[in-house]
Amino acid sequence: MKKLSLTLVTSVLLTLSTAGTLQATPAEDQEALKNYFSKKFSKIDINSYGDGAYIYREDAYEQFKLMEEDFPPYEDQIAKGEEMWNTPFANGKGYQDCLGDDVTKVRAKYPMYDEAKDTILTLESEINACRTANGEKKLKWKKGDIAALSGYIATQANGQTIDVKIPNEKAEAWYEKGKTFFYAKRGQLNMSCADCHVAYAGSRIRADTLSPSYGHVTHFPVYRAKWGAMGTLHRRYGGCNEQVRAKAFKAQSDEYKALEYFHTHMSNGLQWSGTAFRK
Ligand code: HEC
Repeated sequence: MKKLSLTLVTSVLLTLSTAGTLQATPAEDQEALKNYFSKKFSKIDINSYGDGAYIYREDAYEQFKLMEEDFPPYEDQIAKGEEMWNTPFANGKGYQDCLGDDVTKVRAKYPMYDEAKDTILTLESEINACRTANGEKKLKWKKGDIAALSGYIATQANGQTIDVKIPNEKAEAWYEKGKTFFYAKRGQLNMSCADCHVAYAGSRIRADTLSPSYGHVTHFPVYRAKWGAMGTLHRRYGGCNEQVRAKAFKAQSDEYKALEYFHTHMSNGLQWSGTAFRK
């Protein structure tokens, strides 16, 4: 396993973030991140990045693929999500009335900048917006039914290309907010998302191999062995903030919406591969 070199880390982050000071466009940021990974790990297929840390570990990768084929542990949750999608609300309407009739067209719309509200809409925020608009209670944001439903919706978009749009300056301000979050050091360990998931990606930290941020969002919500259940992307954000002993933000807070917007844009060009197993 590679030893971590601090000088290397510092210079990598400087290179990637100088782009920021020179006002790189989002497309240039994305290209720089993708090139960074394809140069650093030239033998790894850049289209496999949605498989996270497994791409760096051949043995674990094989087991992971077998398990996903033979015993996907999220199957019953996806079935539950499908049932939710097809069950009308008390008023006779359903998710189709808000999100569209064609379930295969839903996942790839989000995260999306909403100009009228000047905010980022996420798949989960729109699921709950649909419920409250129809007189139903909001679902809890991080796990349970919301993950089952967003998991079902995600699986229906498998193979579609991630293509987050940043249509105007106000949207770009949200992108920049997410980018700043991603590169900011925080917590008692004083580490940024980029430290672990760009500079140290592929290296070991305790029992884990660190996943690359390119491809980070393709497969959410995930079933995690540690959770024994499914959870959303914002649940994972909270966990990663706590790992460096920083306070987690609330799921669907502006901070995490901005982060999701930036973070998903960074994976533009990869495929949605909704719902995967992680340990
Ligand atoms: C101290 C190191 C550390 C920091 C800092 C950190 N993470 Fe993580 N993160 C981990 C570890 C360990 C895992 C589990 C192994 C893996 O998949 O990388 C993980 C997993 C993840 C995953 C799941 C990857 C997958 O394949 O499903 C996402 C997404 C993620 N982190 C995002 C973030 C974001 C966003 C930040 C900044 C808010 C962040 N992390 C900060 C250590 C870190």
